[in-house]
Amino acid sequence: MERTFLAIKPDGVQRQLVGEIIRRFETKGFTLVGLKFMKVSRELAESHYGVHRERPFFAGLVDFITSGPVVAMVWEGDGVVAAARKMIGATNPLASEPGTIRGDFGVNIGRNIIHGSDAVETAQQEVSLWFKDEELVSWEPQIKSWLYE
Ligand code: RTP
Ligand code: MG
Repeated sequence: MERTFLAIKPDGVQRQLVGEIIRRFETKGFTLVGLKFMKVSRELAESHYGVHRERPFFAGLVDFITSGPVVAMVWEGDGVVAAARKMIGATNPLASEPGTIRGDFGVNIGRNIIHGSDAVETAQQEVSLWFKDEELVSWEPQIKSWLYE
């Protein structure tokens, strides 16, 4: 089944949104398969955001993501990559729809609370960048037959 990589950024942790954010993905019906609370190394941050290396905001973005603990997660479910991006909302929280995480809790593009993989292929790369195989737990939720026909 499809998997995505999500990370609650240092602002989401400082703003005590960890429980609220995890609750949204749990109650939606996605399955948690990986979770760790960690400080991000500069090397990992630069690799994760490598696609933005030439952008003017890159240095600030790396400084920010390494500035405090983050919650790194892998979630599983049909269509989870695109669905999680919808639940997260547009990059700029001022443009994010109400009801999305960024739309409900943020006001600034540099403090947009959570990261989500932007495509299935990116998700696979990010999951293996952030997690070792043995840190991911495959399990069968008992409620699955109530989520999928
Ligand atoms: P993310 O990768 O963090 O999930 O965010 P995203 O896909 O919605 O946006 P992306 O284009 O990948 O940008 C990565 C992060 O860089 C910061 N950013 N700042 N100042 C700016 O113009 C600007 N543009 C992007 C944001 O924190 C964004 O989440
Ligand atoms: Mg992105």
